[in-house]
Amino acid sequence: MKQYNVHIDLGDRSYDITIGSSLLSSIDKYLPFDIADKKFFLITDTNVELYSLSVQKLLQANGAEFCDVLTFPFGEATKSYDSLKKAHDWLLKNNVHRNSVIMAIGGGVIGDLAGFAAATALRGVYYVQVPTSLLAQVDSSVGGKTGINTYYGKNLVGAFYQPVAVIADTDTLQTLPKRELLAGYAEIVKYGLIDDLDFFEWLEENAKSVLELNKAAVSYAIEASCRAKAAIVEADEREGGKRALLNLGHTFGHALEAAAGYDGSLLHGEGVAIGIIMAYELSLLLGHCTQGDVDRVRAHFKSVGLPVDIGSLSTSIDDLLAIISRDKKAVDNKMVFVIPSGIGKSFISKDVPKDMVVKVLEQFILGE
Ligand code: NAD
Ligand code: GLY
Repeated sequence: MKQYNVHIDLGDRSYDITIGSSLLSSIDKYLPFDIADKKFFLITDTNVELYSLSVQKLLQANGAEFCDVLTFPFGEATKSYDSLKKAHDWLLKNNVHRNSVIMAIGGGVIGDLAGFAAATALRGVYYVQVPTSLLAQVDSSVGGKTGINTYYGKNLVGAFYQPVAVIADTDTLQTLPKRELLAGYAEIVKYGLIDDLDFFEWLEENAKSVLELNKAAVSYAIEASCRAKAAIVEADEREGGKRALLNLGHTFGHALEAAAGYDGSLLHGEGVAIGIIMAYELSLLLGHCTQGDVDRVRAHFKSVGLPVDIGSLSTSIDDLLAIISRDKKAVDNKMVFVIPSGIGKSFISKDVPKDMVVKVLEQFILGE
């Protein structure tokens, strides 16, 4: 079975992403160092602990100096100060040293938490991302954003800190719930919409195969997504400009997620799917895309079973606007948004009139 390799070129912080089937059973081949002279600290959650235990066995069999597993409860609540402290205490108690490796085995929650623990323990130790959710394989494990949530909002404490390797075994997706798979798929579509019409068209043709986990289709979709993300991260690692394109649909999406209360009723990728449609409606109002573009994207999300409207979410225009304004401070009633200009093209606009944003919210909340 074909394996893909995507290299992220960031000077001395460069690394490889390996994508394919049956990688975990030979994970030693994809690590950029000898196992025998390393201590391994595996961080995981209760839903994917089994994968971690098999990786632990393999590392031990290959002579790892030390290899233990720390398992957190699954879910967004794990990305907290409490968990970070637990991880630090565990690392320090077991004499983590600069030659140690933290391995994050799980979805984006574990990747973000373990990555931040790696960035901060001893001012930085190696870490490897072993993403097991589709969202983590196409987005969160790549690019070095790590962090935890706070009372004041998601991802507000963290660091840019790159892993030394990313190993995405597509076989793990077999146990991922269908709803989580679809949420990850929304982030894949995002890459096509940002700057790759051909990829979007490929997804229109092949969505079913990707979501049925056809090995060739899913590996290719992950590879294309990682390649797209790698190019953007290489150009703008710390989000001074272009990297913000990766937030297409995320301003509306994050507001919807916050309004839903992070209780599992609206997954991140589901919020992103609705948020992307809202961004297209905003673009239409601003004259940057056609009704045909909006309809085409909406039809694609609908065809795979992603949400395209806010459904039974109980919220108001004022509530959503307050959340959006908190991270997009309106200057002279102008806001910053990623605007899709058709399909496969997008740009960052710093002067979106606030009243246009309100109009989009009215469409989705009041049906106007
Ligand atoms: P997650 O880690 O909560 O995983 C989703 C659910 O799937 C969890 O219940 C998890 O236990 C389960 N799961 C994961 N892999 C599984 C498998 N193979 N089999 C069975 N169950 C499995 O969430 P996520 O959707 O992976 O990631 C969302 C998180 O990622 C959010 O916290 C978000 O802020 C963050 N994120 C970070 C970045 C970044 O660049 N760092 C980018 C996007 C999202
Ligand atoms: N997920 C957005 C980013 O990595 O920048």
